[in-house]
Formats: sequence, structure tokens, C-alpha cells
Amino acid sequence: MTAPEGYIDAHCHLAAKEFNQDITEVIERAKQGNVLAIVAVAIRKDDFHRILQLSSQFPDIVFPSIGIHPVQGEPPDGQRSVTLPDFTDVDKAIEENYEKLVAIGEVGLDFSPRFAKGDEEKKEQREVLRRQIELAKKYDLPLNVHSRSAGRPTIDFLKEHGAEKVLLHAFDGRPSIALRGVEYGYYFSIPPSIIRSEQKQKLVKQLPLDRILLETDSPALGPEKQERNEPKNIHIACDYIAQIKNISTDEVMKTTTENALRLFPKLRSLMHR
Ligand SMILES: *[C@@H]1O[C@H](CO)[C@@H](O)[C@H](O)[C@H]1NC(C)=O
Ligand SMILES: [Zn+2]
Repeated sequence: MTAPEGYIDAHCHLAAKEFNQDITEVIERAKQGNVLAIVAVAIRKDDFHRILQLSSQFPDIVFPSIGIHPVQGEPPDGQRSVTLPDFTDVDKAIEENYEKLVAIGEVGLDFSPRFAKGDEEKKEQREVLRRQIELAKKYDLPLNVHSRSAGRPTIDFLKEHGAEKVLLHAFDGRPSIALRGVEYGYYFSIPPSIIRSEQKQKLVKQLPLDRILLETDSPALGPEKQERNEPKNIHIACDYIAQIKNISTDEVMKTTTENALRLFPKLRSLMHR
């Protein structure tokens, strides 16, 4: 089966307050920009309701992924490492909504020193991730995974706990570690910030195209550091990957969309209902 002509944004924070004022216009611009599907991921429990609501409001393009991030609390000063109490009722929310979900996430490990101050924090992050891996296995859903300063620990932990369907978003580790993920069958999504990130450019050089997806991580990781990113910018990641791999933008669009449909098979039946 051939892929539909358009992009899939595999990791996007549409529930972020930055989109509260003009979400309808953001979605409209995404559609104009040939975005066929947006996987809307959560960070905190507070996001779940908004994500599910957006997926009912825009059922042809917004697809929900819920789960909790290794960093909780409000930026810039309230951020801290996740704890087990943060996980309370997350399992219940996933259980109640699993039929609608296309993935579990954003989950992962963040060993930035300001969050993971010691072993205790890392241990609790791992436990919260482990529980979400179990839920992914139980409901046969892919995991939408964050890793920062924890590339190798994240990939090894996922493998050790039997996670098979995995998207590593905006991976900040070395290409050699990423290739270990490729060996395990994992996928990697690349945001528009690749145009200003030498690390991501190196990563794309090494990754096989059949394991690459596109994402925007909106409102973060846009082409300009301080500007709000939005899904319509996804073509920037596509065009840059095409340049690095010396292939057509059309091939990158089609292949990354096919990859996304392979990893998130529910998107295929949900799109264009
Ligand atoms: C890019 O691809 C074209 C056409 O396939 C080829 O002629 C050219 O040598 C390639 N350039 C590089 C830098 O690999
Ligand atoms: Zn994210």
C-alpha cells in the first residue's frame, strides 16, 4: 500500500498553553501545509483532558498520545524530576482511553543534572518509565520517548524491558548509540531545529531513511530558537533531511510517512474518516 501524499508530525505539544489562543488557525495552517496527521503528546496528567478534547475537535488530523514525561512541574522554575505520586491514575486514564490512543507518551528519561540530581531521581524516573512500558505492552501501543543526557540508558532500558514499538524523539545522543536503537527496531523522529543542530545533522547522516520520522515538537524545536514552532513547519525538517541524504524531498516525505504508519498503525484507519 502506498503512503498518502503528505506529512505526519509524530510528536507535537498541541495542548501547550502557547496554542490556546489560535489553535484553529494552527490546525488550518497545518492542513494547508500538507500535514495529514499530528500525534499530540502529553507531558503532565493535566494535559490529558485537553489532548483528548483536541482529538475530538479535530478528529481527522489530531491523534492522542498520553503518558507522563520524566520532568514534571512548570517551567522555568518549577521543573523537577518525576516521582511515583505523579503517576497516580495515569494507568487509569490510559486504560479508559486506550482505544482512542495512537501511542503512550511522552515518556522517557532525562538525566540533565538540574533534574536528575542523584541516583534516587534516576531510579524513580526508571520506575515511572517501566510502568508505562508495561502499559504499552498491555495495550499494544507504541511509546513516544524523550531522552536527554540519557541516550544510552534510555535505549538499553527500553530493550531490557521488552519495548518493541518505540519512537525516540529529538534524540540527543551519539549516532553510535542511535544505531543500537536501530538494531532493536526503534525509530527516530527529526524536528525542524535540525537546521541549527550539528548533532542532529550527524545523526541523520547515520540513520537509515526507513527508521526516520518527522516531528515538530511544537511549540519547541523550531527553525528559530526563540520563536514558537508549529506543525506547518514540518517541511523544514523534511527538506533538510533530503539535502543531507541527497535524495528528493518527495522521497523523504513519502518514506517518513510510510514509517509513521508502520509504527503508529492506528493512524491509517483513523485518517480521513
Ligand atoms: C547527489 O545525487 C546526484 C543524483 O543522484 C548525484 O549525481 C550526485 O553526485 C550526488 N551528490 C553527492 C554529493 O553525493
Ligand atoms: Zn516533546
